[in-house]
Amino acid sequence: MSSTGGLTSISTPASSLSSGSSVANCEESSEAGMKWSARAAARKFAASLSKPRTAIIMVKAGRPTDAVIDALVEVFEPGDIIVDGGNALFTDTIRREKAVRKTGINFVGAGISGGEEGALLGPSIMPGGSDESWVTLGPILKSIAAVAEGEPCVTHVGHDGAGHFVKMVHNGIEYADMQLIAEAYDLIRRGTGKTPAEIADVFAQWNTGELESYLIEITAEVLRQVDAATGRPLVDVIVDQAGAKGTGAWTVQTALSLGVPVSGIAEATFARSLSSHPEQREVSQNLPGPSEGVQVADVDAFIEDVRLALYASKIVAYSQGFDEIRAAAAEYRWSIGLGAVAKIWRAGCIIRAQFLNRIADAYQAEPDLPVLLTAPYFADALQRTQGAWRRIVQAAAGSGIPAPAFSSSLAYYDGLRAERLPAALIQGQRDFFGAHTYQRTDKPGTFHTLWSADRSELEAEDTH
Ligand code: 6PG
Repeated sequence: MSSTGGLTSISTPASSLSSGSSVANCEESSEAGMKWSARAAARKFAASLSKPRTAIIMVKAGRPTDAVIDALVEVFEPGDIIVDGGNALFTDTIRREKAVRKTGINFVGAGISGGEEGALLGPSIMPGGSDESWVTLGPILKSIAAVAEGEPCVTHVGHDGAGHFVKMVHNGIEYADMQLIAEAYDLIRRGTGKTPAEIADVFAQWNTGELESYLIEITAEVLRQVDAATGRPLVDVIVDQAGAKGTGAWTVQTALSLGVPVSGIAEATFARSLSSHPEQREVSQNLPGPSEGVQVADVDAFIEDVRLALYASKIVAYSQGFDEIRAAAAEYRWSIGLGAVAKIWRAGCIIRAQFLNRIADAYQAEPDLPVLLTAPYFADALQRTQGAWRRIVQAAAGSGIPAPAFSSSLAYYDGLRAERLPAALIQGQRDFFGAHTYQRTDKPGTFHTLWSADRSELEAEDTH
């Protein structure tokens, strides 16, 4: 079936879903043609289903999704359910759910992750929507979801756009995880001179320990691949410009609106943007930099440092992602169980990883944990890894190897743990040029210094 980015071959046949449900397909380029074919297909499709009908659609995000929903709304009846399983923007899902609800039809935005393998073996599914629709949909989705330790990787995430929000953050974490792995590869390659095939062995080894995850596993596979045409490692033949379909950018844009610092995800997203400007990179190649590459005295020790730095940075990326979900849940009044989200990401999805069990444990022990990093398991891991993390960030900066995700994760960590931040100076600057006022550490109230007069301090009544 067709899809939004990535889920191109989710091809769960209608027959594998429970009675009265099926999957709609739409792949037309012209809007008029698309509308016509979607309507015709919808009529035929609706007539083939027993009631209440459940349709799972996976079409390109944006107007194509609206066109298919409109077509289904015309032929469906109150009590029927339309599930959008594409990578829709959660605010679109909120809008669509509100509009479709007026017809008595249930609309559910469901994030689905898993790529081609998920399509065959079962994806991780993140449905939003009403409690009523979950009653019908729950058993259907449980029957097609991946299974982790005996539990289906699906839960009713929350109302309206909650499912698509959580899938968006999943993708943001995916961006961060991929960038961190890419930085680890680059450091090892440039620091040790190992070949991609040799680095594949390193990743395969890492995949037997605490970094065990699907992304580490496939990294070894990609690095081992030899190009048939040239005999070179495929990774050396692929153009070094990373694509992006937009969900990483959505995660960052939304985090900015919510005021949540997802710096690892942001750096990963910007790193893809930087890679995709060949004209800027071309004219920048002769800019000065360190003359010496990274100095590695002990190859095994250096690789172990990279592994630990990757683990620490990865903890930060997940912590930031969960922080964004927590903030959105408060903003949109979704009741999202963060531990339940960690559990449904343990299998089927792209970021599936062994340590999601530890995240689930952390939220089970303390559901309102304000910062995931501070859970005992992760605080211990950061204690154990931070020496290596700092050495690797220093080595990267000292030798001119870009490691934006490693560095920004460490800066975030140090920012969180700082007793005092230079934000106090920023408040002073804001007060100087814009009378934006500040609070004092020693007494309550709002204050302003008369910077351009006698520099005495006023207690502000009306603040900006
Ligand atoms: C998934 C993937 C899927 C898709 C990404 C790719 O969970 O199955 O995340 O949704 O592969 O959207 O995104 P980019 O093309 O932006 O890397």
